[in-house]
Amino acid sequence: MRILVTGGAGFIGALAVWRLLDLGYDVCVVDNLSSGHRSALDRASRLAGRPVEFHLCDVRQTSQLISIMQSFRPEAVMHFAGLKSVAESVACPELYYENNVQGSLSLVQAMLQCQIDRLIFSSSATVYGANGVPPFGEDAELGPVNPYGRSKWMVELLMRDICSAHPEFSGIILRYFNPVGAHPSGLLGEWVQGSPNNLVPYVMGVLQGRFDRVRVFGSDYPTSDGSGVRDYIHVLDLVEGHVAALNLPKGLSVFNLGTGRGYSVHEVIQAMQSVSGRIIPFDVVDRRPGDVAVSIADPCRAHQAMAWKAERGLIEMCQDVWNFAQCSPKGYELE
Ligand code: WQD
Repeated sequence: MRILVTGGAGFIGALAVWRLLDLGYDVCVVDNLSSGHRSALDRASRLAGRPVEFHLCDVRQTSQLISIMQSFRPEAVMHFAGLKSVAESVACPELYYENNVQGSLSLVQAMLQCQIDRLIFSSSATVYGANGVPPFGEDAELGPVNPYGRSKWMVELLMRDICSAHPEFSGIILRYFNPVGAHPSGLLGEWVQGSPNNLVPYVMGVLQGRFDRVRVFGSDYPTSDGSGVRDYIHVLDLVEGHVAALNLPKGLSVFNLGTGRGYSVHEVIQAMQSVSGRIIPFDVVDRRPGDVAVSIADPCRAHQAMAWKAERGLIEMCQDVWNFAQCSPKGYELE
């Protein structure tokens, strides 16, 4: 089976590429390298011992996508390409609607033109917003509270309408909770140039000496220790969810990819301290605007429909992050 992967040079994309190659799929990657790393793809290919086709291509270039699809003839597309910073989306919403919404529309148009009828889309738990009481089931009321979440929500609506108009089309929406971790080899992981927005890559940077202290955003949330609680899922469990989605029946389906278990900021810092054997200095500061107190998945539907369940716990996630931090101290830079 041939799979086209957009954003395959990114954190989750490169691990998906490795796993697909490892399972014997043929993979073609399109990526504009705006945040991804070509060397991550080379490492994924070396780890799997199999070649990967790469095209420097922005998903908004519909005609370039069509020619790549006509030559590679994929049976399915995994769509990881997109912008993902909540803070940046508030400052520059036009970037998020152009990249995430227009980019996804361009991809779907190219797929329809080339009769490719299976799309697996990287959505996000941010579509749930601050509504409702976690754990969130897929039928919970949606209410994204920032342009990033709204851009994901719009693509979900686009996929819903495409599946209604084209019964042969399979649209699989995977709502990620908080992906963290790395490949156990230490060769593939989350490498952010500059200062990461997200907690775990920032903590990794403190352990690498790139940053001095972690800022803990908030101490007055209604949680066990006052800090925010999230459903952290190992990136390899997340990738297995995408592999399982390749075999789903036609039509539209929506799944949460989370563990169903939440951890606070302090619990994550503690876990990173215990796997690294190092003290991680932190300061408790004000809440970060736009954050919700608790975000936890109800993952039952994915378990029932795809026989998929996250297997790895927080300690394993942190062990793999720490291993990546040591094996790749400069991430993908200088390659
Ligand atoms: C986790 C917790 C923060 C940084 C976002 C997107 C989501 C996904 C992951 C793309 C929260 C706290 C964080 C720090 C902290 N992105 N925190 N100090 O905001 O849950 O999710 O990123 O797929 O769609 O919404 O992730 O890692 O930023 O925050 O205290 O320096 O850590 O308040 O409670 P978030 P995060």
